[in-house]
Amino acid sequence: MIASKYVRIRENQGGTRGDVLCYAWREDPLTEQRPALNPPSPGPASIRNAGRGTVIITAAVAALGGLLFGYDTSVISGAMLFLRADFHLSSTQLEFAVGIALAGALAGSAVAGYGTDRWGRRTVLLATGIGFGLFSVFSGLSLGLVSFSIARFFVGACIGVASLVTPLYLAEMSPARIRGALVSLNQLAITVGIVVAYFVDYALAAGRDWRWMFITAVFPAIVLVIGMLVLPESPRWLARKGDRDRALRGFYRLGRGDEAEAELREVEQALQEEREGFLALFRPGFRMAVLVGVGLAILQQISGINTIIYYSPEILRISGYPSAKAAILAAAVIGVANVLVTILSIFLVDRLGRRFLLLFGTAGMTGALALIGYAFYRQAAGVVVFYEMIAYVVFFGIGLGPVMWLLISEIYPTKIRGKAMSLATLSVWGANWLVAGTFLSLIHAAGPAGTFWIFGFICILAFAFCFAFVPETKGKTLEAIEAHWRSFSHENSS
Ligand code: BGC
Repeated sequence: MIASKYVRIRENQGGTRGDVLCYAWREDPLTEQRPALNPPSPGPASIRNAGRGTVIITAAVAALGGLLFGYDTSVISGAMLFLRADFHLSSTQLEFAVGIALAGALAGSAVAGYGTDRWGRRTVLLATGIGFGLFSVFSGLSLGLVSFSIARFFVGACIGVASLVTPLYLAEMSPARIRGALVSLNQLAITVGIVVAYFVDYALAAGRDWRWMFITAVFPAIVLVIGMLVLPESPRWLARKGDRDRALRGFYRLGRGDEAEAELREVEQALQEEREGFLALFRPGFRMAVLVGVGLAILQQISGINTIIYYSPEILRISGYPSAKAAILAAAVIGVANVLVTILSIFLVDRLGRRFLLLFGTAGMTGALALIGYAFYRQAAGVVVFYEMIAYVVFFGIGLGPVMWLLISEIYPTKIRGKAMSLATLSVWGANWLVAGTFLSLIHAAGPAGTFWIFGFICILAFAFCFAFVPETKGKTLEAIEAHWRSFSHENSS
């Protein structure tokens, strides 16, 4: 057997990080076993500090994918009326123009998994940034329904891809003990994007400047592209491709210090035990992981969050809110509450764990939805509904919102993570489309009270699902989580 040997290629390059880059595995046919590693410490404290900085910057830049996701899904609401007037759209055409991005997101999430497994997380995120920039500008410059719809379809595709690759990249580059917080930056960025879109729409509405509403997305897209050009590729993906040197360098760059080698070995060992291919998704243990991911993704959407995010002014209007303007302002307050509670969740997720936040959140959502339904049933004042909607969003933002994205980025084995996440994100966008597209008809058929009680019932199911199936992943490495599913599969097969 040919073993590898960790050899010093160049010595003492001066800078601490330079030293680290000077160690690499070389083939060593004389050695049967890998020699015990003991790379001279290249100034661990400074390396670790430099690495911590890189981790945070990397996470912040990658989270721009989430910001663009949030921004581009909600910017359309403010532009809608102007589009209709300028392009002389009928209601059906307007519905088409609004919904086309969702179709793009479905398509994007379907192919993103394959792309990211093949070309790498960083490359795909980079391409997504370029796509967001280009097609946001094209949307803003479009001359009619056709060119607008084509541009928005591709913006939607970028949303779909970003919704998969952003949390995936964040999970793979994060140290286990703060992975929950770093991946949840994605959700924070989504909520910030939603609110920013709201304010941009509001500011530009006076001048009817719908074109700039779309074009504005080019600025975060440029930052994302520049950032991804200089930031490291996911070491886990590099290890999977067999590029050990770059993977190790990546872990060092991401501040793992003395633990870099051990983490890489753990990744390699897990990779050896994995069988590649789509069918691996359906092996007994991993099948369970797939079920958990897809189940959470669907439940996150069918528990009704986007009825509040997309339609809150309409809901408040039905509840008898004083004026349309007040209802729009109230929607902004709900958006800000969503951002603030997500920050709280980021502080809690690595301390209290995923399960606690999910159970607490879904229980609270159930209560809030029951009260919203009751308020409609009793025809209570609109302001009551407003407070209850805030309560609902707060419970969503503490649990199911960020934790769904976190879990689907961490529960799958490295080799199939991309494909498995495609399945989960496809479920997100499919369910989103279903709920957003049927909400107004549901209100018509079941009445507002009945509609919110239905969503409340779904939250009870979500609570039961989380209680029964979701494992605690707090503080575990991705490989330890994988081993959990594998043990499941052994039990089943024995
Ligand atoms: C959901 C989106 C939703 C957003 C609101 C995300 O986790 O996937 O559908 O619009 O949260 O904050």
